[in-house]
Amino acid sequence: LILVLDFGGQYNQLIARRVREFNVFCEVVSYKISVDEIKQKNPQGIIFTGGPSSVYGEKAPKCDEEIFKMGIPILGICYGGQLMAESLGGKVNRAKNREYGKTALNINEDSLLFKDIPQDSICWMSHTDFIEKAPEGFVITASTEDCPVAAMENVADKHYAVQFHPEVEHTENGKAMLKNFLYEVCGCEGTWTMKNYIEEEVEAIRQQVGDKKVLCALSGGVDSSVAAVLVHQAVGENLTCIFVDHGLLRKDEGDWVEEIFKNKFKMNFIRVNAKDRFLGKLTGIDDPEKKRKIIGEEFIRLFEEEANKLGEIDYLVQGTLYPDIIESGTDTAAVIKSHHNVGGLPEDMKFELIEPFKYLFKDEVREVGTELGLPEEIVWRQPFPGPGLAVRVLGEITEEKLHIVREADAIVREEIKKANLDREIWQYFAVLPNIKSVGVMGDERTYAHTIGIRAITSSDAMTADWARIPFEVLERMSRRIVNEVDNVNRIVYDITSKPPSTVEWE
Ligand code: XMP
Repeated sequence: LILVLDFGGQYNQLIARRVREFNVFCEVVSYKISVDEIKQKNPQGIIFTGGPSSVYGEKAPKCDEEIFKMGIPILGICYGGQLMAESLGGKVNRAKNREYGKTALNINEDSLLFKDIPQDSICWMSHTDFIEKAPEGFVITASTEDCPVAAMENVADKHYAVQFHPEVEHTENGKAMLKNFLYEVCGCEGTWTMKNYIEEEVEAIRQQVGDKKVLCALSGGVDSSVAAVLVHQAVGENLTCIFVDHGLLRKDEGDWVEEIFKNKFKMNFIRVNAKDRFLGKLTGIDDPEKKRKIIGEEFIRLFEEEANKLGEIDYLVQGTLYPDIIESGTDTAAVIKSHHNVGGLPEDMKFELIEPFKYLFKDEVREVGTELGLPEEIVWRQPFPGPGLAVRVLGEITEEKLHIVREADAIVREEIKKANLDREIWQYFAVLPNIKSVGVMGDERTYAHTIGIRAITSSDAMTADWARIPFEVLERMSRRIVNEVDNVNRIVYDITSKPPSTVEWE
């Protein structure tokens, strides 16, 4: 185990992911962690992250200085390195020029941290303060033009610091440096793999659950699907999955989810076909927020009704991921944001939670899914909003409009897959903007629907850019949708980024 002490830097999660790429498990914890807690966790090494503060600032986050005396290897990055320097008697100062971006790095001493790394390379800098003087007992191992102490170390005490960011891609040998810290300095062996993780997690869940009953709200999304299969491995028959089909899913999606979980994985799988109930409630509603609210409430009600039929349930499976937990503040530790599946789950139901992925990142969950034999279509499924096509048919929803958008969407997805763009593009789908326009087809005037195509690239859907899909692919989609889907005579492509637009149209 490696502990990543979070001082508020923007790359904290990235550091954690890098460490795990070398098959070493790590946890991101608050810099306020006590020496006793660290002792309990018994890490092989500690990494201090960067952070926006100045060590001399009034509110500068500072860890317990006893940490430096524990004999555990420490790597301080940027602010973390400055804090190490300041705490151990060195000097940090404000630079005249902020150093930012790619910078030439010169390694001038042999160091375990730089083992097998060329003397001259490029590193990524982003700092205002810098280490002016290394503490006593430290050797300066690297420098840049503006930075006398780009790296320093005290081998006897196992203290290492770098001013640059080894975790970002722009630092040419950054990964190798982190690997050296983990393997050479900390003595990690790199035995943490998804295969082991699954085995341990399955065993832990089995112990926890015993012969009690577990419920899972399955949406068909990556996290809930992989979680369901994992928990099923642990507790088999004791797990029941409820899949609410609100009639707003994509083409054949409900059948396909049923096929996988009920037939392939042989799970207790309850599919609630509630199309009429949802569409009934949505009749005459055209306000997007009202639509969302109705769907969310109805979803909870249905889920509750089904769960009640099952009698006493002790545990609920949630696909919570590690970023949800880190983002809710390693600093305040306990306040964990509850992750909601489709439309949220009943708040007053009394379950204990099983969260098998609360220490995993999304790409790790995908690996688990692949390892467990889930089909690629699920493991690499694009995000799909809980309210489904209801927010992709603008205004009032009718069965006809749903049919049109569903067929058009199927074509968009097919063409993206055929063009091998499905892993590159974050989300791609069709919307029905609810406008009709005039067209001409075979000498006849038409007055029919417009379909909008939306495709974005993103890494988290917080910001997004419109995808530069090749014209030929757009052309094929356009031609096919107009030919194959009735009552459509015009196709437009959405070329707005987020912001100012959102990913969905409603
Ligand atoms: P927007 O449209 O807000 O979408 O830019 C950001 C991401 O969230 C998804 N999304 C939703 N997911 N329930 C969900 O579970 C919703 O009501 C909802 N609205 C948007 C959207 O698909 C995108 O990935």
